[in-house]
Amino acid sequence: MKFDLTINGEARQVDVPEDMPLLWVLRDVVGLTGTKFGCGIAQCGACTVHLDGEAIRSCVTPVSAVGAGAITTIEAVGGTPEGRKVQDAWLTLEVVQCGYCQSGQIMSATALLKATPKPTDADIDDAMAGNICRCGTYPRIRAAIKTAAEA
Ligand code: FES
Ligand code: FES
Repeated sequence: MKFDLTINGEARQVDVPEDMPLLWVLRDVVGLTGTKFGCGIAQCGACTVHLDGEAIRSCVTPVSAVGAGAITTIEAVGGTPEGRKVQDAWLTLEVVQCGYCQSGQIMSATALLKATPKPTDADIDDAMAGNICRCGTYPRIRAAIKTAAEA
């Protein structure tokens, strides 16, 4: 089945089964491999992308559910004001360890700052609770979100 998607500002037509998860479309069909597969069951956050600016788990979002929404991935989030600030803060505070979870972390943090420019600790906890980091970079993630919010 053909789907007309908008991914990182570009129109892309894909011909895939309607129940194919968006994550598969992004990585295997479109070739955007910055978004990662972790659990496949909406438990880790590695696959987080934006749909119309909101963080979603692409591993459990069928491509048929995307409709006309604008998809943004880690490859393009730096082109948004919030995404740029988040990525700058991530670099300044050297947040990343192995890096596997970090695309998802950055997408969730960016969506948080877009919705809540000056987040409290509780806001950060709520927004980031679904993003797991096996390397335990949580303290640096929290500090980087605060740095980005002040930028
Ligand atoms: S791969 Fe989607 S939440 Fe883990
Ligand atoms: S940096 Fe390694 S899993 Fe998060």
